[in-house]
Amino acid sequence: MSDIIAQYEKYVMPTYARQPVAFVRGSGCYLYDREGNRYLDFVAGLSINNLGHCHPAVVAAAQKQAAELINTCNLYYTQPGGELAQLISELSLGGKVFFSNSGAEANECAIKLARKHGRDTDGDNKYRIITLENGFHGRTMATLTATAQPAKQEPFKPLLPGFTYVPRNDIAALEAEMDDSVCAILLEPVQGEGGIYPLEKDYLEAARRLAGKHGALLMFDEVQTGLGRTGKLFAYEHAGVKPDVMTLSKSLGGALPIGATVTAPAYSEVLGAGMHGSTFGGGPVPCAAAIAVLNELIADGFLEGVNARGDYMRSLLEKMKEDGLVTGVRGLGLMLAIDLGSPVAADVVTEALKNGIILNNTSAETIRFLPPLVVEEGMIEAVVEFLQTALTGRT
Ligand SMILES: Cc1ncc(COP(=O)(O)O)c(C=O)c1O
Repeated sequence: MSDIIAQYEKYVMPTYARQPVAFVRGSGCYLYDREGNRYLDFVAGLSINNLGHCHPAVVAAAQKQAAELINTCNLYYTQPGGELAQLISELSLGGKVFFSNSGAEANECAIKLARKHGRDTDGDNKYRIITLENGFHGRTMATLTATAQPAKQEPFKPLLPGFTYVPRNDIAALEAEMDDSVCAILLEPVQGEGGIYPLEKDYLEAARRLAGKHGALLMFDEVQTGLGRTGKLFAYEHAGVKPDVMTLSKSLGGALPIGATVTAPAYSEVLGAGMHGSTFGGGPVPCAAAIAVLNELIADGFLEGVNARGDYMRSLLEKMKEDGLVTGVRGLGLMLAIDLGSPVAADVVTEALKNGIILNNTSAETIRFLPPLVVEEGMIEAVVEFLQTALTGRT
């Protein structure tokens, strides 16, 4: 065991089952350990490094800002916060933005906003929030309550009141739970942590219609799907269904911590002064990095490239399915997963690491791919070749 790992074992709470490797450097699609071994990264820090590790534009923006002003807290104005909010607003829902530091915090703000809006419009009884089974929205008490995965929730009960869970893509089940006591529907357009399950266009359209009918907010958690991951800047664009509120985080700051809760104009003023806050939220350094990230994502041809590489990777995975090596292939853009048909996913991830490839499994049978969006075809081929070898004779 390296001294770095030993130190973690002794002093860091054991809330993660970490892979047995410590990285010291990252560049593009590769990470490096202390011995100089190189690893091809198909996890991208769970989609925080969408532009690859230490993208020069992100590093330059963060370094420049850090040398000028790191943070002031939110009692004052700083230039990068306003500029980033304008950019996000103009690229998405057109309203205002609240900045925090993580995905869970972005969702926490959305949940509070929905409760407040419900109360403003229809009094004390409009507080129910509907989320989807197998979804993931974070680990704080409110976002854990929104995360309808019993195993994650059980140790922390009692949870918050007022949450109802429905199965994904089941319009009738959603309709059955909707009434005027619902203040919001919160969902991921593609369930990420749950194993890469895209929601159907019909379902998103029905959610939009039902939310409107009952005066509820439609809120999309785009923490993982957002910012080019699915081949569009935001996953809601695939179905053409715009939410009232959207949350972003992960890759927004180019791997620096930032969360954003974005509203349509009608909901921009629901939370007023003193109703929500974050000391660090929207600090100049992550905001400067995020402006650099967005400028890369909206550059000509960037998203076309993501789609081309996503299609290519998917075609190779589909071929593995034809060859009987995997039982399922799912996803959108460069947010992909394979089902292995037997509980060998953790073993494959371990073997991949020994072969200099970083993979992630969402369950015993499912491997999820979140490579940097700048991944190259040859890298995709290398990963697929590894999988072909690893899975031959295993499943
Ligand atoms: C869709 C989604 N929402 C929320 C979160 C929570 O984000 P964070 O870990 O930054 O709190 C995640 C993290 O994986 C996520 O995938």
